[in-house]
Amino acid sequence: MPISTAPAITLRNGLELPALGMGTWPLDDSQAADAVATAVEVGYRLFDTAENYGNETGVGEGIRRSGIARSEVVITTKFNKQWHSREGVRKAFSASAQRLGTEYIDLFLVHWPNPGQDQFVEAVQGIADLLEEGMVRGVGVSNFKPEHLQRLAEAGLVPDLNQIQVDPRHIREASRQANNRLGIVTESWSPLGRGEGLLHDPSVTDLARKYGKNPAQIVLRWHVQQGLVPIPKASSRAHLEENLAVFDFVLEDSEIAALSALDTGEAGILDSNAFGH
Ligand SMILES: NC(=O)c1ccc[n+]([C@@H]2O[C@H](COP(=O)([O-])OP(=O)(O)OC[C@H]3O[C@@H](n4cnc5c(N)ncnc54)[C@H](OP(=O)(O)O)[C@@H]3O)[C@@H](O)[C@H]2O)c1
Repeated sequence: MPISTAPAITLRNGLELPALGMGTWPLDDSQAADAVATAVEVGYRLFDTAENYGNETGVGEGIRRSGIARSEVVITTKFNKQWHSREGVRKAFSASAQRLGTEYIDLFLVHWPNPGQDQFVEAVQGIADLLEEGMVRGVGVSNFKPEHLQRLAEAGLVPDLNQIQVDPRHIREASRQANNRLGIVTESWSPLGRGEGLLHDPSVTDLARKYGKNPAQIVLRWHVQQGLVPIPKASSRAHLEENLAVFDFVLEDSEIAALSALDTGEAGILDSNAFGH
């Protein structure tokens, strides 16, 4: 049976990104290698890792073990605040590329803005330098608020993607609108709400019954139907397969709205002005 992959969406710089990917935190190297190799078999082509997860080596190993061509997968990784300078980003890139065993990184992300340190503009400039040199294919940020994006824009920098926490209980309307205004794709981290209470909410389970899908698939459909790119983490083949099978049904607008009404506001969101590494 031919495997089915996620459809592509196009970033503002022209790079094609699978509309759904796989998260790898908190897998260790060995677990990540196994899960990523399985995920490639299942049809995943977008993988999310980070220096901070300590599993870039395993992610690279899993991709190699799967036998897929490097050009067929999109690798996203992120660096910590100690590298927030133009030269620092270069060092972070070399270290991540070596751990991943790859010559280039598709999307390199500032993991947290750390505005207290006030060097995130330099960090994004550092990624833009690497883009010019062909070492990365896109400029990414994570956990950036509208005010941080504004600072970047004033310096003439607009990232291609902003990875933030989004799920139906945290719909992040203001952040998503700010991303949209700048043409930045929003990638959703913890898209399943960490697999906890959200998946048992009657608003989700009722729709699961209606569509013959499971709760995770309803939540992931809520993301992709709005142009959000979710990166659910799953360790079993069964979960990996289920999470990719969300492109064969359509929620009604009123159903998207009913799920969005689960929003609890920004209270449960880590404040990226205060937290970061
Ligand atoms: N940029 C950032 O600051 C940041 C922060 C946090 C996370 N992230 C990224 O976002 C990714 C996803 O976030 P997350 O791992 O926190 O949360 P998540 O993807 O919302 O939830 C993961 C949990 O859901 C379970 N699950 C997966 N598929 C399921 C299914 N079909 N049915 C039922 N349960 C299912 C998983 O269990 P199993 O493992 O048993 O399958 C796991 O316990 C991370 O892995 C990481 O790559 C980024």
